[in-house]
Amino acid sequence: MPSAPTRAVPNDLEAYWIPFTPNRAFKAAPRLIARAKDMHYYTPEGRAVLDGTAGLWCTNAGHNRDPIVAAISAQAAELDYAPAFQFSHPQAFELASRVAALAPGDLDHVFFCNSGSEAVDTALKIALAYHNIRGEGARTRLIGRERGYHGVGFGGISVGGIVTNRKFFGTLIGGVDHLPATYNREQQAFTQGEPDWGAHLADELERIVALHDASTIAAVIVEPMAGSTGVLPPPKGYLQRLRAICDKHRLLLIFDEVITGFGRLGHAFAAERYGVVPDLITFAKGITSGTVPMGGVILRKSIYDSFMRGPEHVIELFHGYTYSAHPLACAAALATLDLYREESLFERARKLEPLWGQAAMGLKDLPGVLDIRTLGLTAGIDLAARPDAAGRRAYDAMVQAFHEENLVIRVTGDTLALTPPLIVSEDEIADMFERVARVIKAVAQ
Ligand SMILES: Cc1ncc(COP(=O)(O)O)c(C=O)c1O
Repeated sequence: MPSAPTRAVPNDLEAYWIPFTPNRAFKAAPRLIARAKDMHYYTPEGRAVLDGTAGLWCTNAGHNRDPIVAAISAQAAELDYAPAFQFSHPQAFELASRVAALAPGDLDHVFFCNSGSEAVDTALKIALAYHNIRGEGARTRLIGRERGYHGVGFGGISVGGIVTNRKFFGTLIGGVDHLPATYNREQQAFTQGEPDWGAHLADELERIVALHDASTIAAVIVEPMAGSTGVLPPPKGYLQRLRAICDKHRLLLIFDEVITGFGRLGHAFAAERYGVVPDLITFAKGITSGTVPMGGVILRKSIYDSFMRGPEHVIELFHGYTYSAHPLACAAALATLDLYREESLFERARKLEPLWGQAAMGLKDLPGVLDIRTLGLTAGIDLAARPDAAGRRAYDAMVQAFHEENLVIRVTGDTLALTPPLIVSEDEIADMFERVARVIKAVAQ
């Protein structure tokens, strides 16, 4: 595989407003990545950097995999674009069938969009419209969860529960309530896998229903494992309990599987791991292994069928994106799903999970480590905040990891997150945590 030519570092970093990044600090000491292959990035100078985060939890098959690159190139030469409304192209149908086949139960229809944020807003809109067309238009409330991350659309930040993502943006959408977060350090610290404590927190949904009445509630949305807030595995039994309460009150249950989908927890979807069938699943990221933007919603047959009434020439759902099921994204997704299957990458994640968890727990006694949580191929490591600057220690750790340890890690607040591509080897896992250990020691002062 020939490597791409190394391009010059841009000499003016000013124009680009980098998302979710302190721009002035970045531009003073940039972290630039010029190319990638498998488990590694390469800086413009050619330095190899180990990818501890699968990009942003998305490059599950590893970087620049040949079959995916070839599929995207071939598709670009064959069909660049077909209108997403009133027309379509064959790969969109093939992909929808493939995704539906991976989903549990009767979740057998797929609506495509371009990101996790769009997937969440699409799912919320489908939930509202579903009740509306069935004559239960009073069901408009949406229930999210504290510390939840559901992207950055107005729907997503409204049901989301990360304060900084909400407080600058006005009153958000109305009629939203939140379940409590499932994390309690005193009860759960240093748990590998699902903690024993916390299933009862699902019962808070009963309190919310009692307050608003079920007849006003459309849907409940949760991440099966809260990812972006810092890796919070669900307590044992929690998701099952949530499902039971939703059934009792006929609330739609949405699993936001943008991170947990496509192998991160050792299965196609976390729904499978927990034996819980939600009504809708949102996905993005791993569907194309991060190569081309794509997201979507998988929904139960009964929901789809509810829309398929009315006159046949009338649009059933007034929603969609110019780039829904874009041909390049479909080609990338089909090749990615092939690779996941051929290399048994979901099973691989499942097999590596105990070793991964033990390696992460090896950092337990390092200075300033308050908690470590692991699930599937994810790990969250809480560091003690510096007294005068919340988030500073973890930020310093990320900078140290990139420049001194040739490692990409992710930070949120004072939590480090590690979520490697599913092709990670046992040696690379050991090496990764050795590097993280040195980083934690370096920022301990
Ligand atoms: C659970 C969840 N939902 C939604 C999103 C938003 O996805 P995107 O950044 O593609 O809009 C993310 C992104 O990390 C996520 O983790």
